[in-house]
Amino acid sequence: MTIRKIARMGHPVLGKRAQEITDFADPELRRLVEDMVETMIDANGAGLAAPQVHEAIRLVVFQAAIGRADPGLSESEAFDHTAPLTVLVNPVIEVLSPATEGGWEGCLSVPGLRGWVERPAHIRYRGMGLDGSKIERIAKGFHARVVQHECDHLDGILYPQRMTDLTKLIFESETKHWLEQND
Ligand code: NI
Repeated sequence: MTIRKIARMGHPVLGKRAQEITDFADPELRRLVEDMVETMIDANGAGLAAPQVHEAIRLVVFQAAIGRADPGLSESEAFDHTAPLTVLVNPVIEVLSPATEGGWEGCLSVPGLRGWVERPAHIRYRGMGLDGSKIERIAKGFHARVVQHECDHLDGILYPQRMTDLTKLIFESETKHWLEQND
């Protein structure tokens, strides 16, 4: 396994629509997924999309650990808010409710920054695993956010493009000061 170089905002690969995957037997695909998982964990990210490692194909990896979900959820509520390490190929998102929720996001392609992004809070997503098996899940909270953030990468969208208030685009190192002033 190899830690791959992460493309940063401004690289053209992050701004274009990625292509559907058709050849699941391609051994390069398996290697890419292994490298993406290692790269994501090494960088302490919650997710990574293939274009971020310079591969313009519709593939994301992510995990939504319980530690990043809202505290105070019951066990059954928490189910939709969390996801194990997931490899998702050719994903499609369906918004289940018009309600949106704001949350701070970061991105390995936009290092050092955090931004407040409003997104649909309740979604269903479908796609395929690396073995071609079907994946279909309901997602809420952080789980819904990470899936939407990663899938945006496949359409050439970075989270700052989803922001409506750029006063809430801040350096991570200033978070403490920002919260003191605004909370
Ligand atoms: Ni990202």
